[in-house]
Amino acid sequence: KRPAGAPDRELARKVTKVGIIGAGLMASQFALLFVRRLQVPVVITDLDQSRVDKGLDYIRTEITKLEEKGRLDSDEANRLRALVSGTTDKADFADCDWVIEAVFEDLAVKQQVFAEVEPHLSETAILATNTSSLSVEQIGAKLAHPERVVGFHFFNPVAVMPLLEIVKAPATNDETLATAFAVAAKLKKSAVLTADAPGFVVNRLLAKVMGEAARAVDEGTPVPVVEKALAPIGLPMGPFELIDLVGWAVAAHVQDTMVREFPERFYSSENLHALAKLQGVVEKDKHGKVTDLSK
Ligand code: CAA
Repeated sequence: KRPAGAPDRELARKVTKVGIIGAGLMASQFALLFVRRLQVPVVITDLDQSRVDKGLDYIRTEITKLEEKGRLDSDEANRLRALVSGTTDKADFADCDWVIEAVFEDLAVKQQVFAEVEPHLSETAILATNTSSLSVEQIGAKLAHPERVVGFHFFNPVAVMPLLEIVKAPATNDETLATAFAVAAKLKKSAVLTADAPGFVVNRLLAKVMGEAARAVDEGTPVPVVEKALAPIGLPMGPFELIDLVGWAVAAHVQDTMVREFPERFYSSENLHALAKLQGVVEKDKHGKVTDLSK
């Protein structure tokens, strides 16, 4: 059955090679998913070789874990490892027909990485963004072909969470959208089409939950009490455990976007931002990637 809002699937383009901009935790998780489900070459890139290598290490280690769990036989595991490569040269994306970015949640950075890669691509290659709350229209605004830009928003942990938000910007054409739905189906994700509105659907709600939990702490209730109080209402994990899972910097950026767009409806916690900043300065993620929000 065709998902609501999805164009005719006949319009979908074939995806024979995937390019991933960013080799951080989110990007590495979905690189693994793309290679497993699409069984096509996947190339990842980042600012420097050491970040690329860390992303590749993560993917290879996860393939080994799947092998140890008996979910992949050794031939399949070796085939998947051989399909994944890394580069720091965007010219290596030339034959990718599906490119997805998961770089820092900042409009200018996302516009820049797309502008850098677009001249290397064929006119029919698609540019997907994993932005969690920014405008897909603005991310594509400076490109020669904004009709090929689509939002493709995964949730953490990528391997487990069934949902994908597909976001249509005003310029997104039917071929792009049909391809996004076809790719989502191959990834075995349940895709929903959302408007290109701040926070789409899920982060509108999550930003509210996280913001109000942070407000409770700012007002004097300790973090463990907030976590415990919310446990019986059916959340799979408490709001702070969830912030920790998605990353304090990501959570702070989602808050910033929502507060900027709807100042009267969302709450920005200085403590949450302070922790994000602290994490950015002193902590590395599990790939060793440091996000310095103090700059
Ligand atoms: N990474 C990869 N896999 C993970 C994982 C992780 N961090 N955590 C759990 N898993 C896997 C486990 O390996 C296990 O897989 P197998 O069954 O194949 O062995 C499976 O998930 C279940 O694991 P558990 O039994 O330990 O799981 P659980 O019952 O404790 O559930 C959870 C773990 C799925 C993470 C659950 O707590 C949950 O759903 N939490 C909420 C997550 C959520 O809301 N995510 C959305 C965040 S918002 C976002 O990402 C977008 C954004 O823009 C900010």
